[in-house]
Amino acid sequence: MGQVCAMRYTLCPMLNQKKIIVGVCGSIAAYKTASLVRLLIKAGAEVKVVMTPDAKAFITPLTLATLSKNPVNVDYFEADTGLWTNHVALGLWADLIIIAPATANTLAKLSNGICDNLLSAVYLSARCPVYLVPAMDLDMWKHPATQKNILSLQTNGNLLIPPTEGELASGLNGQGRMAEPEAIFEVLLAKLSKRKPLKTKRALVTAGPTFEPIDPVRFIGNHSSGKTGFAIAEELADLGASVTLISGPVNLQLQNNSIARIDVNTAAEMLAEVKKYFHESDIMVMSAAVADYTISDPAERKIKKSEKQFDLKLSKTVDILELLGQQKKAGQLLVGFALETDQEEENAMNKLRRKNLDFIVLNSLRDAGAGFKGNQNKITIIDKDFNKQVFDLKLKTDVAADICRKILELI
Ligand code: CTP
Repeated sequence: MGQVCAMRYTLCPMLNQKKIIVGVCGSIAAYKTASLVRLLIKAGAEVKVVMTPDAKAFITPLTLATLSKNPVNVDYFEADTGLWTNHVALGLWADLIIIAPATANTLAKLSNGICDNLLSAVYLSARCPVYLVPAMDLDMWKHPATQKNILSLQTNGNLLIPPTEGELASGLNGQGRMAEPEAIFEVLLAKLSKRKPLKTKRALVTAGPTFEPIDPVRFIGNHSSGKTGFAIAEELADLGASVTLISGPVNLQLQNNSIARIDVNTAAEMLAEVKKYFHESDIMVMSAAVADYTISDPAERKIKKSEKQFDLKLSKTVDILELLGQQKKAGQLLVGFALETDQEEENAMNKLRRKNLDFIVLNSLRDAGAGFKGNQNKITIIDKDFNKQVFDLKLKTDVAADICRKILELI
């Protein structure tokens, strides 16, 4: 580490009061964890180290206790005092967990929820972001079993700092070296020092389609993927808001496990959940593609094909957004969406007015690449004073950031 870097880490308490658990597994790379702990402490973080029993063979608890200025936890029980280490309290204490080095064995355990040591129990009890920093030999890293575990851990919202290439303890050359402490530190700094302007706010987001049952095996649905709504929930949580996400049936996982996710199927179920939370919400973003009509009388048994023609009787669902617009109190910010195929702006402005919104996010199916499918969207934001902002086609995560910027402007 150069002089300038060293000074930056020493002089700026960038991680002031951030509570970090550093998990350490049994790998030769554990010696690097000492430097990581030192960097975190110098930046003002409060660090508690949790080691697996094997890790003690590679670095002593005394070293990490001295650097972290806290006792190191290894076992559920302290051998001499018989005291129990409360893994739940440790998991809930942390603003962030980083497991460095994470061995193939621990990754396999975590991806399967195996909980046979203190570190895996703390991991299962935590609600904060978890970073995994693997270290292993190149063939262990490449092995389909390890790759499957990594994918499953990432799908479950864990964040990966991948191993780098170079000379390994075995003498082989390839990918498997634990990332350097300075590189890990920069990643954590970027995550934890993000401004949290919404930290006193509660947000309610709806996302995805709704499925209205025709009979036990069929439904009426739509092509909404839920990606924009999920990205908005993530962005609001990153900005510090306490987020509740009510999602229709989608194939998505959240990265930030502080978001409270409620899964529903039908428009009626979504309405019932929204009613529970909207009174206490400061920000409400209704991005779900809620069915406008539901089957009046869904069959209890599978409908058999007999007649040449078959009519479905539909009845209107409650417009959740409109209901919130009617009941909204001063200080509550309400955002709606409009997906249009023609007379886009006129339709969007009518919805904005009729539903009493603070702003509406319009997307037109006439814009190439925009809409439900894919990872991109092109939006126009129109606010209640009819100010209009037209955005380029961009990734749905960037679209979510634009929407949240507008929320920040208005809140
Ligand atoms: N919406 C809702 N509840 C419904 C229908 C729609 O909350 N039952 C919300 C959506 O979440 C979205 C907005 O209303 O934020 C606009 O949805 P859209 O389908 O574009 O408009 P509608 O008002 O349903 O009008 P139309 O389908 O006639 O265009």
